[in-house]
Amino acid sequence: MSNNEIDQSKSNNRVSSSDDLEVSAYLEISQEKSFQSQFSSIADESQRDSILIIDFGSQYSRLIARRIRESKVYCEIISHKSSWDDISKLNPKGVILSGGPSSVYDESAPLCPLWVYESGLPVLGICYGMQVMVHQLGGTVSNSAKREYGHAILHQNATQEKLFNGLGSSMSVWMSHGDRIDALPPGFESKAFTDNSPIAVIGNNANLFGIQFHPEVAHTPQGKEILENFLFKACEILPDWTPGNFVNETVEKIREQVGEGKVICALSGGVDSAVAATLVHKAVGDQLTCIFVNNGLMRKEEPERVQITFEKYMKVNFIFSESSERFIRKLKDVTDPERKRKIIGEEFINVFDEEANRLGEVDFLTQGTLYPDVIESSDSSVSATIKTHHNVGGLPDHMKLKLIEPLRYLFKDEVRQVGLELGLSEEMVFRQPFPGPGLAIRILGEVTEEKLDILRAADWIVMDEIKANNLYQELWQTFAVLTGAKSVGVTGDFRTYGHVIAIRAVTSDDAMTADWARLPYDVLTRISSRISNEVDNVSRVVFDITSKPPGTIEWE
Ligand code: XMP
Repeated sequence: MSNNEIDQSKSNNRVSSSDDLEVSAYLEISQEKSFQSQFSSIADESQRDSILIIDFGSQYSRLIARRIRESKVYCEIISHKSSWDDISKLNPKGVILSGGPSSVYDESAPLCPLWVYESGLPVLGICYGMQVMVHQLGGTVSNSAKREYGHAILHQNATQEKLFNGLGSSMSVWMSHGDRIDALPPGFESKAFTDNSPIAVIGNNANLFGIQFHPEVAHTPQGKEILENFLFKACEILPDWTPGNFVNETVEKIREQVGEGKVICALSGGVDSAVAATLVHKAVGDQLTCIFVNNGLMRKEEPERVQITFEKYMKVNFIFSESSERFIRKLKDVTDPERKRKIIGEEFINVFDEEANRLGEVDFLTQGTLYPDVIESSDSSVSATIKTHHNVGGLPDHMKLKLIEPLRYLFKDEVRQVGLELGLSEEMVFRQPFPGPGLAIRILGEVTEEKLDILRAADWIVMDEIKANNLYQELWQTFAVLTGAKSVGVTGDFRTYGHVIAIRAVTSDDAMTADWARLPYDVLTRISSRISNEVDNVSRVVFDITSKPPGTIEWE
């Protein structure tokens, strides 16, 4: 088994991509079920213009999409197999062909659908995307003797090129390719070169461009300007993808779809379900009921904060289901991490179903599914599957709810912007991820009330110090773990024998990989001494310096 496979099998039934997927994960509904998301695409029906990114399997396809959205332009990643009928409703104003691991001469090399060239839309081919364009339009691509990887200096042949509008004649760019262009297709000109690539940028009069380097990565310092030149000078699209516009359009759309129907939403305390619920509430007010299940496995004050925010502050119909005892009872004597997850997931569905039943007829379920989850479970990507889509369980069939997933086309940072636009607190919007099974997977071995109390107190101190030292937002996750080990200590003149608490602090972009955070020694010192002094029954505090892989972020 490769590392990747081991990681996948370990994380089966676990959710890792978006922070409050804990709730969506429990309510996950498999793609082929009869339930249908009401948000097939943001651009649908709204006549919003968009840029399409044809994915050839580059690890950077998502990054291209993020960059374009950052420039306030709506874009979607689509499969190279998409037909014009599939995508014309997205109102495309330009197409980007992503990079990819193939060589155009590979037998199974993905090619560009012909509508791309026939549509007359501006096209930007990046790396493999450029080679594919050259290959399909009659040029020649060949294997370069020297692979070019890393920084290179790009020199323009002439300086009035549209893509480089406002930029100097030379610039630093990031290269990563084996194949290179030998002969241009008819009508194309070479626009720029590097030491290793005599033809590094090409273009023709019909707004078809190819670039051998990666403008989407931070290592190409002027990449943003280059992409924006393509968007605004070649495609002439408007930068109108803003949180405010998104909120207005989405609220309208939800109103139309829900009509007089009744909607439920499971809140977790995380940002995704909070933003999704707030959007729906703004659209249909009291037709929405939010259900919060207190499983007794949350951190100190967490359930109360969710209740105050939604019930008191936002005046949402709110059901606080106090179910701690049920969960703790079910977890008695259970030590296996995956069993814990399964039990908690199943119990969540039971409670949710019971609470929803009390509401009578319900038509819709709101979920905070995000774009990365959609990309992963669709076939838009030809990239190797890096992560399985984690289903923890499904709603009972009898519920037959239609899905409302208003965040289906948003990246996490966009969800946060929308949350702020909707007036949610920074604390809620920038909350670090917290797993659905909660503290149960941070207590190694059996979960008891006593252990939960110890862990809550220790975790509170970790969070307090991390926030006081302004480290919260730069860390992906920070928490305490009750390791299950006991160790000898000394307090005053007495020998003690107490729990060993581990501190876990990691940096990460997406939880797929993570590094242990180099917390300042004085912060660690304060955390350690406060836990030792303020939490009973703890004899020792240790710091976890394992990265992922080989470790996982959580201890179980
Ligand atoms: P690992 O421990 O696999 O965690 O490196 C990656 C991310 O996923 C979160 N996580 C979970 N979230 N249910 C969840 O909702 C789970 O069972 C679960 N297990 C891990 C973890 O907190 C991290 O952000």
